[in-house]
This record gives sequence, structure tokens and C-alpha cells, in this order.
Amino acid sequence: MALWAGRFKKEVDERVNGFNSSIRFDFRMYKQDIQGSIAHATMLAQQGIIEKSEADLITEGLLGILHDLECGSLEVDDTAEDVHMFIEAELTRRLGDTGKRLHTARSRNDQVALDIRMYLKEECDAVTALLKKLTQTLCMQAEQHLETVLPGYTHLQRAQPITFAHHLMAYAQMLLRDIDRVQAAKTRMDVMPLGSGALAGTTYNLNRGKVAELLGFSAITANSLDGVSDRDFCVDIAGAMSLIMVHLSRFSEEIVLWCSWEFKFIELDDAFATGSSIMPQKKNPDITELVRGKSGRVFGDLIALLTMLKGLPLAYNKDMQEDKEAIFDAVDTVKLCIATMIPMIDTMKVLKQNMRAAAAKGFINATDCADYLVKKGLPFRDAYKITGNLVAYCIDNGKTLETLTFNEYKQAHALFEQDVYEAISLETCVRERKVDGGPSPEAVKTQIQAVGKCLEAM
Ligand code: ARG
Repeated sequence: MALWAGRFKKEVDERVNGFNSSIRFDFRMYKQDIQGSIAHATMLAQQGIIEKSEADLITEGLLGILHDLECGSLEVDDTAEDVHMFIEAELTRRLGDTGKRLHTARSRNDQVALDIRMYLKEECDAVTALLKKLTQTLCMQAEQHLETVLPGYTHLQRAQPITFAHHLMAYAQMLLRDIDRVQAAKTRMDVMPLGSGALAGTTYNLNRGKVAELLGFSAITANSLDGVSDRDFCVDIAGAMSLIMVHLSRFSEEIVLWCSWEFKFIELDDAFATGSSIMPQKKNPDITELVRGKSGRVFGDLIALLTMLKGLPLAYNKDMQEDKEAIFDAVDTVKLCIATMIPMIDTMKVLKQNMRAAAAKGFINATDCADYLVKKGLPFRDAYKITGNLVAYCIDNGKTLETLTFNEYKQAHALFEQDVYEAISLETCVRERKVDGGPSPEAVKTQIQAVGKCLEAM
């Protein structure tokens, strides 16, 4: 018999029960459900709404259920409607009438709003810890490659010289923003909804602040309708998860490219790559392809949540049960992707020579050549044109700016002197880009230190 059986003359059809039930995916909130119930019962007793001895029995009973679930001696009833009904029914089975007092002044609507907030607050911290670790891994790799010259690209065309460290630290910046977004989402949802009841609060003299305090919330929700029907925090978190996946996916795409024979800038450790069932020579960057692919399902989770919410009248509607699979999947997927990428990045081999060789082709020092003339007094547009002509001459004659003779330079413009070779060497080009935020080893060292400080403060 369902807990709400009083009004009904028939049992729920088995097929409806299976359709309606959420226990197969909301069971993971059992700990939060039990903690929330203990705080609720404790407050009820303090307010004189139930007896202290009853609250004690309820607390003991709930802790017993927690223990039995965790050691496996209590099996989950997969015909229960949800985790809340399951735990309450089990408590009543154990305690009899006292168990029936727990749900005084509470509805599953404020109960589920509480549980999911508690669950997701913890998940925000778990994702933050992983993001921090990934950022630290990037910093550690970057420290090894402050002088490793890499062609920087725009339009996937070789553009200007940077270093591998500088490239990695760009991702560190994205991840810092991600951490900030996750923590901001956590702060916004840190409000305790119990006391909202089904939708219209309750006539009991509750102490909502006490429950918030017991459960570690900073505040209570301000409006009972909003308290039970707000799932903005799920959207917030799914949004933050989506952007994390955008960043991981962009990085993954680069790693896929870098692993190809066309680039060969890095080689993944054998333990973090896979082979082919037919082609003996293959070593595939499956991890990064999967991360790139999984971004789609996280964006899907975000869209599912937005769509689920947008037409709902206040307050609770059963549609809202659909929040869980979406937000759990988004968070699970992000955690899995970050945790797999950390050791992969930590162990990858950087093929410096290949990066340097790629940087030597594609005229990525052409801007520096033009800047050389500007520093000798020429207006930039004129210098740009002269250098453009030189590049065209190089292409026609199979040369690079480094291999042009001094005579050829002199013919292009009288301002060229012997020091042009030094000015356009890739090492100079990188070293001299010491503007704040630039790729020079000094500037990147400063970036790494600043990121380290941010991580400590987060
Ligand atoms: N399993 C439900 C959910 O996840 C719990 C709330 C049910 N409330 C109700 N009035 N049916 O949303």
C-alpha cells in the first residue's frame, strides 16, 4: 500500500508505478535525505511539536537505516516511489507510530528541494577539487616548457611564435573561471527550503533558521512557492558543467590534432591511449575523443533542464522529477572526464623538436620582421608591405626569412642590417614578447605564480 493510500480505492497499476518511481536514480541522495530528516525531527522537538524522546528515537532509527544501507544489510525496495518514501516507510516499519511523526510539517516537495540542494552543494566541491587538480597539472607541465617554442595558430594557420607553457596556461585561465562559476552556483543555492511545505508553508511554529544551521546552510528560502519550485540552481550548475565541457573539449580537440602524424607535437603514454583491432600501427587518443563526444550529452542535460522548467506553473509539478537524471549525468560526466584527463596530461610526452620544426616553417616571425623595420623608423603599414613581399619572394624561391641572404634583405629595404637575423630568430621572437600576459618565459612564469595564488585562495 502506498503511503497516500487513504484517498484511493485501488492500488496503483504496476506499470504506472514503474513509470512514476524515481528511486532507481534518486536513491543516491539517501544520505542527504536522512541528514535532513534528523535535523527536521530535532527542530520539531525543540519547538515542542513532537516529544524529545520521539525525536531521539527517530534520529536513532534513521542512523540505523543509514548504517544498514551502507553495510548492505538493508536492500533498496525498487518498487518504492522514491528515496524519501522508501526511507520513511522503512523508519515506520522499524519504529511504528513514532516513525509516522517524522513527516509532520513537511512535504516531499520541500524535502526533495532540500535533498537535491544538499547533494549538489557537495558535488560542487568535488568538481572544484578536480578542477584545481587539473589546473595544477597544467601548471606543472607548463613549468617544464617555458622555453619550448610552439607555433601559435589563428584559423589553424601558423601565426606567431609562442611557447607550449603559454598555450597550456591559457587553459588554466579557463579552468579558474570554471571554478569561480561552480562556486558561485553553490553560493546561490545555499538556502534551506524546509518549511515551505507542499507550497504554502505550514501552520506549525517552525524554527527554519535552526534547521539551516544544523544542515550548514547560510540562509533560508524567502518564499515558500519559490522554495519548492526553484530549480534554477540545477540550470546554473548544468551551465557551469557545460562550459567546463566546452573547455575540456577544445583542449581534447587540440590533443587529438597534436597526436596525429601531421603534427606529432605530443605522444600520449601507452597507458592513456588505445590500439586498433586491425591496424597494428595505431595508437589512438580515445580519451580525448570521448571527452569531446561527451560534451554533447552535458549540453543536452542543460537543454533538458531548461525545457523541463520553462512551461511549469507554480509550484511543484511532477515534471520536476526529471531534474535529477539530467543534473546527475552532467556532474558525473564532468567528474569522470576531468579525473581521466589529469593523469593523461601528467604523463604525456612533449615532442619539443617537432614543435620547434613546425615553428620554423610558416613564416611565423613575419610580424617580428615588420616590427624590426618599425623599430628602425618605418611606419608599420610600409613595413608590413615590405615584409609581405619578402614572404612572397621566399615562397617563390623555396626560402625562409632566416635563410635569406643579407643582400636579399638589403634589396628589400635599406634599413635592414645584420642584426635582422637575431631579431627574427624564434627564440628572440618569444623572449621579447614580455608584455604582461604574453608568451615570454618571464611573463609565463608570472602567470603560473598568479594561478598558483588564485588556487590557494579558492
Ligand atoms: N520524487 C519526487 C521528485 O523527485 C519527489 C517529490 C514528489 N512530490 C509529489 N508531490 N509527488 O520530484
